[in-house]
Amino acid sequence: MAQSPLEIEIRKRIRLAGPMPVRQFMTLCLTHPDHGYYTTRDPFGVAGDFITSPEMSQVFGELVGLWAASAWQQMGQPENVRLVELGPGRGTMMLDALRAAQAVPAFRAAIVVHLVEVNPKLREKQQQALGTVDVPSMWHETFEEVPDGPAIILANEFFDALPINQAIKQFNGWYERVIEIDGNDNLTFGIASEVIPLFDQLVPAAVRDAPVGAIYEWRTDNLALGIGQRVVRQGGAALIVDYGHTKSAAGETLQAVGGHSFVDPLTSPGEVDLTAHVDFEAILLAAESMGARIHGPVDQARLLRNLGIDKRAAALKAYASPEKANEIDEACKRLLGENRTGMGKLFKAIAISHPDLVPNSGPMPGFES
Ligand SMILES: C[S@@+](CC[C@H](N)C(=O)[O-])C[C@H]1O[C@@H](n2cnc3c(N)ncnc32)[C@H](O)[C@@H]1O
Repeated sequence: MAQSPLEIEIRKRIRLAGPMPVRQFMTLCLTHPDHGYYTTRDPFGVAGDFITSPEMSQVFGELVGLWAASAWQQMGQPENVRLVELGPGRGTMMLDALRAAQAVPAFRAAIVVHLVEVNPKLREKQQQALGTVDVPSMWHETFEEVPDGPAIILANEFFDALPINQAIKQFNGWYERVIEIDGNDNLTFGIASEVIPLFDQLVPAAVRDAPVGAIYEWRTDNLALGIGQRVVRQGGAALIVDYGHTKSAAGETLQAVGGHSFVDPLTSPGEVDLTAHVDFEAILLAAESMGARIHGPVDQARLLRNLGIDKRAAALKAYASPEKANEIDEACKRLLGENRTGMGKLFKAIAISHPDLVPNSGPMPGFES
């Protein structure tokens, strides 16, 4: 098979500099300025590689918008609030959230939208989508660029797209997992030549007893620390929805998806989506260490039911044609489903808030048991 332009570059870098850590490989595959998966295409929909909850049904974004409105009320209704979305895709969730926010006019009037997006093609789509609404919007390359002030931060299927590091346990300690070129001239996984010093003391306790050959994944982007610090210092809350594990654990979750199917992560670099499960415990611990209050994880099904998905779907169906009503039912089944194809249990939600946001240390909306 012909090598993709990015594979040619990765091979060149490996020949010049030696085996490439998984994190560097994933970063190049996703965000290389000319050949990265997220810098060159719109990956959504039937013609793309995957479909996300907001693309499945308007109900998802609308409920997120109502969550944001109640977070704003709990914040004391500041006159100006940044409504930040990390990785907004086609802008669908923000558009649906803003429509739902019309139910609380003072909240909608207080919003300036801030979108954090690396993908120029998706940025364009977001600009088109949000060009139809009367709310000021700004774009940023990174979360740190969002100007100071109270903020409500939203992220759906964003953290899974952030590059991971991988280490593999051997008899004498943990070694970084790398990509190298094998004797048959194929890209293959390998192990760095030197042990990572003191790594056993750095990994979560549950990972220390992992057997030889186990893989541990972690992210070093510090985004959870940044979100925790921001909501504590400047007020606000964050809602994060993604797939992953509620407790830190050993295990390999790096996966590649192209054309709605799983493929080998090392074939077609830059042409397929690379993701890894989110370690929700690691995010919550990082945010808590900055003084933030943490909520969840709860299953996506519980979050959406607590936020009123059944009522909202029934209201939409009341005015829908039979075909449209059937579509709404099918989308809700997928969002709430607990089987292999459902997202209700696989996806989890967490929230991070200013410590005083909810009176009497109660849960944020959606996180009630
Ligand atoms: C899987 S998509 C999810 C999109 C959207 N949240 C949804 O649910 O439909 C990931 C999004 O994050 C963006 N993205 C990926 N890596 C990023 C990064 N490092 N910084 C900013 N945006 C990024 C992608 O371009 C895309 O908009």
